[in-house]
Amino acid sequence: MTKFFKLAGKTAFITGASSGLGEQFAKTLSNAGSRVILAARRIDKLEKLAKTLKNARAIQMDVANKNSVKSAFETLEQTGEKIDICINNAGIAKLTPIFEDDLEKDFENQIQTNVMGVWYVTKAVAWHMKNHNIQGSIINIGSINGNSVPAMEGSAYSISKAAVIHLTKTLIAELSPHKIRINCISPGFFKTPMNSVDIDKVLPHIPYGSIADPSDLDGLILYLASNEASRYVTGSCFTIDGGMSWGGKLW
Ligand SMILES: NC(=O)c1ccc[n+]([C@@H]2O[C@H](COP(=O)([O-])OP(=O)(O)OC[C@H]3O[C@@H](n4cnc5c(N)ncnc54)[C@H](OP(=O)(O)O)[C@@H]3O)[C@@H](O)[C@H]2O)c1
Repeated sequence: MTKFFKLAGKTAFITGASSGLGEQFAKTLSNAGSRVILAARRIDKLEKLAKTLKNARAIQMDVANKNSVKSAFETLEQTGEKIDICINNAGIAKLTPIFEDDLEKDFENQIQTNVMGVWYVTKAVAWHMKNHNIQGSIINIGSINGNSVPAMEGSAYSISKAAVIHLTKTLIAELSPHKIRINCISPGFFKTPMNSVDIDKVLPHIPYGSIADPSDLDGLILYLASNEASRYVTGSCFTIDGGMSWGGKLW
């Protein structure tokens, strides 16, 4: 049974590993025995984290810039890396109201990072896995805001995350013949630098009664990363939100 969650001999590529959920994914996969390649723009943070992990490497990459993604993957190819697991986690969130002048800029930035960024990296890693005959696992990080229509501001963020979920499902047909799996996780409300919202305001909307910690994703990330554990799982989207999608107490 424990073989399910052993990742020795595997290599995981994690975007947005300089903070929050991405940092936790890197630690979890590393603890399970995987080599981890940490990607983000803040290389200093990545290098600091890499030093604390067993078999890790940092690489600077801006997911929103296709040349940056291309050049990072060229470097990884040239240095002989073979990526088995890719976590498309890098993302930004700006909950701009529709009646604000700057909405267009925020909208474009979020689409460029959260949608185009996931697509650039997925494309690059899918080619890499296909060319090296790797039966890989791609895990996209969506959001509950993309699952359904939240009664809040921030349409650009919700639209971008809905696109991530659809991108996941729409690629099953093309990736499956190469035995590359692609799945999505939609987190609810996790304690990370992205979330500066007043916790007391959010708590009544979470039936489980507490805010999630990034480590609450450990089990799911290991399950989806492991071909032993989730060989037949592809095109699925897993919600992990303490019941938040289904509403909290009204009074
Ligand atoms: N926290 C939550 O409650 C929650 C809920 C649902 C979904 N999510 C999703 O989970 C993911 C991680 O969020 P988080 O809470 O961990 O946020 P975070 O702490 O702000 O981390 C975001 C990460 O994304 C990276 N990033 C942003 N833009 C990038 C770019 N253009 N190129 C490369 N890396 C970039 C950042 O690194 P650099 O700044 O160093 O580049 C950072 O490592 C996001 O996709 C977010 O939408 C989070």
